[in-house]
Amino acid sequence: MNIPEHVPSELVYQFDHNTDEGLLIAPEARFLELLKKFPGGLFYSPCLGGFWVTTNYDAYVAVVRNTEVFSSKQITVPPTDGAYRLIPVNIDPPEHAKYRSVLAKQFSPGHMRKLEGDIRMQANQLIDEIAKKNSCDFVAEFAEILPVTVFMKMMGLPIERLNEFREWAMIALTETDPAVRMPTMMKIIGLMTEILHARQTSPEDDLISVIIHAEIEGRPITMEEAQAYCLLLFLAGLDTVVNAMSFGLRHLANHKELQQQLRENPEIAPDFVEESLRRYSFVNIGRVLACDYEFNGQLMKKGELIIVPQIPANLDEKAFENPLDFELDRKGSSRHVAFNTGPHNCLGAHLARIELALTYQEWCKRMPEFGEDPSTTPVLAAGPVMGMRNLQLVW
Ligand code: HEM
Repeated sequence: MNIPEHVPSELVYQFDHNTDEGLLIAPEARFLELLKKFPGGLFYSPCLGGFWVTTNYDAYVAVVRNTEVFSSKQITVPPTDGAYRLIPVNIDPPEHAKYRSVLAKQFSPGHMRKLEGDIRMQANQLIDEIAKKNSCDFVAEFAEILPVTVFMKMMGLPIERLNEFREWAMIALTETDPAVRMPTMMKIIGLMTEILHARQTSPEDDLISVIIHAEIEGRPITMEEAQAYCLLLFLAGLDTVVNAMSFGLRHLANHKELQQQLRENPEIAPDFVEESLRRYSFVNIGRVLACDYEFNGQLMKKGELIIVPQIPANLDEKAFENPLDFELDRKGSSRHVAFNTGPHNCLGAHLARIELALTYQEWCKRMPEFGEDPSTTPVLAAGPVMGMRNLQLVW
């Protein structure tokens, strides 16, 4: 084990967020155990070449807001080999703002609200089929389909290729073997590049046209930059929504009184969305040290990596009273960091909130009382975006 000299032995603990068994069984319990073990908010894992891990709310926020020290040029551990960039997330302030502004208007609340009718219709089309049965796998039959459909329409990707694209998306998002994943990623980038070229000469009312005709500080965007925007939107906007809705729906399946509340008062859906994002967060983003720095009394060195898991931040009792309780009227719930905070806060948050609220509303309106199938247990996945691979429901 290669532990740098400046790391004290009491802060060293073996932890690999990509494979940790505890995260695959009970992610919240596992992260709370780490919070208790390292109340100072920080430890060092020698796994994956070595990296720091924050274990509470204050440490999370201090890292993501300090972009001069904690750069987002690397956002995963282990780091990517530089095969592709993700814009704007891989760009640090102050440059970041000019790249983010290309998409800002497109993801504004007003712009997103225009999609509501269409998303509601697509959700209902999926429920039409599911409601004919008396059981389903919510992940495969709903959660993995709705965000892909919304994404393809928003980007302007050919909707007649939905099934093909869905299959690629699922491989790209869930496959861990790079030999299978990378060729599929290449197909996705290939399709997006085809459409970027087409929209260069004939723009349409879609996001790909906005991106390819954008200017960065008065100069035309390059094809490499346009691809980097498209790839980030794909990676940021699909897997996250799939998992958020699966965790939220699982909570509903196990709390019949909440299903009834949503059926009778669909207007409480936004509160349900916010509390379920806080209670069941699932993202472990990373940063790289841009310089030597003393953090929480501990020296860190330039080039070292750090991850800031959301679960111990959102379940930190110093930040949220009775953090394990699910409270629709929780005070200060908007302080949760499920969409991150600071300059890289999630640009797709308004869209995600709409997709989630409409899902909970329409599902509860259309479906009879439902529960989790007691004969199965959902398979969980660890990694930078932790997920749920299946959710068997019965009614
Ligand atoms: C529940 C669903 C979602 C969650 C939990 C989520 C979470 C996050 C988080 C944690 C970040 C910060 C990444 C970092 O700083 O390293 C982020 C950034 C981002 N997200 Fe989301 N996201 C969701 C949905 C979406 C959707 C639907 C889109 C768009 C289609 C989207 C687009 C983006 C973009 C463009 C950024 C980069 C912002 C920047 O760097 O300025 N996200 N998201």
